[in-house]
Amino acid sequence: MKRDLVSFADLTREQADRLFDLAVRLKADLRAGRAHAELSQRTLALLFHKPSLRTRLSFEVAMTQLGGTSIFITDREIGIGSREPVQDVARVLSGYVDGIMVRTFDHALAEDLARHGSVPVINGLTDWLHPCQILADLLTMREAGIAFDGAVVTYVGDGNNVANSWIEAAGLYRLTVRIACPEGYDPDPKLVARINAAGVGSVEIHRSPAEAAAGADVLYTDVWASMGQEAEREKRLPIFRSYQINEALVARAKPTAIVLHCLPAHRGEEITEDVIEGPRSRVFPQAENRLHAQKAVLFELLAGQGAAPAKSAPAKRKAGAPRR
Ligand code: CP
Ligand code: NVA
Repeated sequence: MKRDLVSFADLTREQADRLFDLAVRLKADLRAGRAHAELSQRTLALLFHKPSLRTRLSFEVAMTQLGGTSIFITDREIGIGSREPVQDVARVLSGYVDGIMVRTFDHALAEDLARHGSVPVINGLTDWLHPCQILADLLTMREAGIAFDGAVVTYVGDGNNVANSWIEAAGLYRLTVRIACPEGYDPDPKLVARINAAGVGSVEIHRSPAEAAAGADVLYTDVWASMGQEAEREKRLPIFRSYQINEALVARAKPTAIVLHCLPAHRGEEITEDVIEGPRSRVFPQAENRLHAQKAVLFELLAGQGAAPAKSAPAKRKAGAPRR
């Protein structure tokens, strides 16, 4: 049966652990010059309704490095819901490609593609969630020696898609996720309640960034106005002014704390120049880890059930063998 990654509800803890182990191995192989070709003959469709640097490039490079190929297409060409219905798009794409990565506004569109398509669907960001980002973030934490269970992750800013995916991560690992946000900009309250009821990690909503940052292992932030909210930017600036990661806030966290930002960043708004360029920042290794984490996702979802990464020889699909 095909597997999707539309949200972390698609992952068990064991599967997530396996992804991180695989990402570490694939990263080491890349560094050592050990080539992979397990996705030879596989094609990933990259469907974008919003702009991107990291997500598009890291998925394209990931497919290339695993021996496969990718095709970028925007909704201007497809016209999902206007030129043709999502269920038809999902079925047509499933006949051509081995996986679909989608970045879009409405999360339901990603779910519909997954429901109607017969190939894996990967969420490359919706208004509600950004799971691939948080996989890269967790990998960056692991590399910094921060164990997931028991870690305190403080997210400062808007209760947006990135915040919601951090909250979902507390359903996989015993993380304490503290969201410090202004009133009216909370993350999804139903998601917060569901994850807290699940009894794995825990989620706290704070109004004071200083309180939320106390003793944190990770300080995290994202833009105050996300893609699609550009018109609200001016209105939001004064509301979010104090929800900034700066030196004073970093001083509240553990001495070993790292600072993360999914990028793009607005220096002087949600993060200061000295922090993003400072010794605690892992922002650029974090951006690189999008590639390594996603290679693990693609490997798991597209290479075939039970496949293990080969050290050298490509795993070829036999002519006429069905796609998963
Ligand atoms: N962090 C992230 O998803 O970046 P892009 O919007 O550039 O893909
Ligand atoms: N919250 C941001 C994340 C960008 C990667 C947005 O949705 O624009």
